Amino acid sequence: MSQGKTVVSGIRPTGKLHLGNYLGAVQNFIQMQHSHNCYFFIADYHSLTTHPNPADLHQSVKQVLAEYLACGLDPEKSTLYIQSDLPQTAELYLLLNMHAYMGELERVSSFKEKARTQPNNINAGLLTYPVLMAADILIHAADLVPVGKDQEQHLEMARTFGNRFNRIYQTNLFPEPQAFNYGKELIKIPGLQGGGKMSKSDGENNVINLIDSPEEIRKKLSRAVTDSGPQVPNSEVSTGVQNLFDLMHLVSQSSTLEHFKQAYADCSIRYGDLKKQLAEDLIIYLSPIREKITAILEDDAYLSKIAQMGKDKAAESADKTITAARSAIGIQRFY
Ligand code: ADP
Ligand code: TRP
Repeated sequence: MSQGKTVVSGIRPTGKLHLGNYLGAVQNFIQMQHSHNCYFFIADYHSLTTHPNPADLHQSVKQVLAEYLACGLDPEKSTLYIQSDLPQTAELYLLLNMHAYMGELERVSSFKEKARTQPNNINAGLLTYPVLMAADILIHAADLVPVGKDQEQHLEMARTFGNRFNRIYQTNLFPEPQAFNYGKELIKIPGLQGGGKMSKSDGENNVINLIDSPEEIRKKLSRAVTDSGPQVPNSEVSTGVQNLFDLMHLVSQSSTLEHFKQAYADCSIRYGDLKKQLAEDLIIYLSPIREKITAILEDDAYLSKIAQMGKDKAAESADKTITAARSAIGIQRFY
């Protein structure tokens, strides 16, 4: 049904990809590339809102590209590119900004949240973050955007900006992009520190990175938050322990999970054993990806070739859109 639709999504290069990014986002990308016209990019402009160290940013862009490839994104099937390689996106951002209003931008939850957590750096880039994201999506006239639940409001704004442009300039240049994921429920991978989702913002010990070595995985698991253990049979499971069961459900054999659940129910469970088993199963699950990331990161020529190829392919589609947008607005050469 969705055959041939255009898909756009990006991830900010704020470090290494973790298991949550992989299972929540990248696996959707991989599945979609077989049946859709896909553009997946590394959102380096978006990460500038928090002023990263230039050397770190430079390294992270390469890291995420290598990780995309190692996870199974195929540069022949999808267009893989770096956001800052497309000046057309920056131009569309400028054009869309003329019809984006302070009031609506100030009401966006991610802006309010950032303004609260970084009161000394409430910059204009932060305020217009949804406009840049809309430009990313609209520059390829995307229909579908595979993202997590946290991005729903940004997508709503992309629709608003696209529709507003269409209405003001009486064109149908931009379709309405919809959030997309396989399966009914949006996946939420839990972290190791007893909180909700696995997220970089809650510290290194909360996440399992795709590139983590077996030693790092064992160490992080040994520090995972549990509780003092069940005192009576069939007692309620605390969040920390449930998170470990949930991770086990994703990467271990079902008999292993059953064994530990049974041990929990009859109070014979030893969390040390649970953590060790989960660590080993995570190591087996992630080893092939880790090895591929390491190999690809060593091959600068390959990474450069992929980035260049993606840039050229993405520019073709972006040129069409920006030319049409300019002309709709009345920016056309007369000489
Ligand atoms: P983080 O929260 O670690 O900063 P990002 O916000 O950069 O991660 O997320 C990039 C993509 O990965 C988004 O599409 C997001 O929905 C998805 N994602 C991140 N963490 C998880 C998680 N724990 N479970 C499922 N999906 C996730
Ligand atoms: N804002 C997204 C995030 O934080 C990243 C992103 C930027 C994006 N531009 C996009 C996602 C366009 C989808 C489409 O995860």
